[in-house]
Amino acid sequence: MRFSAAIFASVAFAARPFDNEPDTGIDAVLGGFAANKTLPPLTAIQGLPDFDWAAREYLPAANYTYYRNGAAGEWSYRNNLEVFQRFRLRPRVLKDITKVESSFATSILGYNFSVPFFISPCARGANGHPDGEWNLVKGAAKGNILYMPSLYASKPWASIYDQRNSTSQVLFQQVYLDDPSANSTKALFKQIEAAGAKAIILTVDSPGDGVRHRAARYGAGSANTGLSYFTWEYFQELQSYTKLPIIPKGIQTVEDAREAIKYGAKAIFLSNHGGRQLDTSPSSLEVALEIYNEDPSIFKEVEVYADGGVRYGIDVLKLLALGVKAVGVGRPFMYANAFGVDGVVKAIDILKYELLNDAANLGVGNLKTIGPEFVNWKSTNMWFP
Ligand SMILES: Cc1cc2nc3c(=O)[nH]c(=O)nc-3n(C[C@H](O)[C@H](O)[C@H](O)COP(=O)(O)O)c2cc1C
Ligand SMILES: *[C@@H]1O[C@H](CO)[C@@H](O)[C@H](O)[C@H]1NC(C)=O
Ligand SMILES: *[C@@H]1O[C@H](CO)[C@@H](O)[C@H](O)[C@H]1NC(C)=O
Ligand SMILES: *[C@@H]1O[C@H](CO)[C@@H](O)[C@H](O)[C@H]1NC(C)=O
Ligand SMILES: *[C@@H]1O[C@H](CO)[C@@H](O)[C@H](O)[C@H]1NC(C)=O
Ligand SMILES: *[C@@H]1O[C@H](CO)[C@@H](O)[C@H](O)[C@H]1NC(C)=O
Repeated sequence: MRFSAAIFASVAFAARPFDNEPDTGIDAVLGGFAANKTLPPLTAIQGLPDFDWAAREYLPAANYTYYRNGAAGEWSYRNNLEVFQRFRLRPRVLKDITKVESSFATSILGYNFSVPFFISPCARGANGHPDGEWNLVKGAAKGNILYMPSLYASKPWASIYDQRNSTSQVLFQQVYLDDPSANSTKALFKQIEAAGAKAIILTVDSPGDGVRHRAARYGAGSANTGLSYFTWEYFQELQSYTKLPIIPKGIQTVEDAREAIKYGAKAIFLSNHGGRQLDTSPSSLEVALEIYNEDPSIFKEVEVYADGGVRYGIDVLKLLALGVKAVGVGRPFMYANAFGVDGVVKAIDILKYELLNDAANLGVGNLKTIGPEFVNWKSTNMWFP
């Protein structure tokens, strides 16, 4: 029994124990696979947290740890997961929800996808499977969702574009500007345009190296190290280097959401890097709530994306309810990739299934019209009395 009274009693202390995934019986039912370090059949996977469990039991510890780790004491990592549980839904009943699935299709920067969730950029895809990012691009095509390859992919990142099902499959390319000189940045942007990316995701939340205790312990440090040069003025200048829209990823305050718009961003991406960069930085749900409370027109002025800790259909719904246009998922796809392309597709299918049934049970007949009234935004704050 994982959630014992002792765990609840320890809530008052700073170092309360943390269960990586909720106890839904997975150890009891699939423990045999953990014992012999094999992957269970995909049919036994019931939810996104199951992929975490399977990857942990199956992958070499350093491989898994690189995906799993968060910054320092991992408080932001945990908060990203737990924050969704602190806000109660306000389900409406006896609503016609029979057509909700037909409202899932959405556009992201004008490109059409089957659902408002996508694969966030994560480095080192080959830590989960020898084919690395190639599985993610193929899975994204099968599920008709957006994938954002990371600059620090295991596969040469341009080769990822060769794995598209056709040149019409849309990918947004994530970049760091470790060498911020204008010439090398221009050269990088040219390569990205030539590869066929439709937008540049510029990660702005990592000017320093992530302080990562767990990763350091397993020798699985960050793919992006060192101090990088970033100012809003430079962000504005960068936009003259390319025809592609540049979307800042890692907006964590309402002030920076406003700055991004002022300096020309057509979309913004709320993220604390999966809690891997700055411990106690806010989850994107908290940032979305801050924007909603203090400057809600931002959601109408630009497209707003958000990621971090999304593991269930209801998590997606809570972000959409505040005005977020599309929601990113990182680790679950990296863990699912241990099963190859089929695992990636299964992860997409699970989240689509949950989105459908959670929306129905919430009384949402049209995903496009979901609003903040479906959530009680007064936090129950249950974990931190
Ligand atoms: C293993 C791993 C590698 C990552 N690498 C990058 C990266 O190269 N660039 C980037 O902008 N974000 C990176 N991220 C952050 C993700 O894009 C995303 O913000 C985060 O994973 C979302 O949280 P989640 O994993 O809880 O879904 C990485 C995350 C993980 C887990
Ligand atoms: C590992 O354990 C599972 C579940 O007990 C079993 O089905 C499978 O055959 C085992 N695999 C190996 C290689 O022993
Ligand atoms: C995207 O979807 C919209 C609305 O469903 C449609 O009008 C448009 O033609 C689609 N665009 C493309 C490129 O398929
Ligand atoms: C572990 O990661 C290394 C480096 O990315 C990779 O070569 C290896 O195949 C991975 N192991 C598994 C089981 O995926
Ligand atoms: C490629 O994938 C997209 C998205 O799933 C789909 O709409 C399209 O039909 C596919 N194209 C080919 C050539 O298979
Ligand atoms: C940048 O590129 C331009 C044009 O190719 C060249 O004239 C200039 O010397 C380069 N600057 C640096 C610092 O390399």
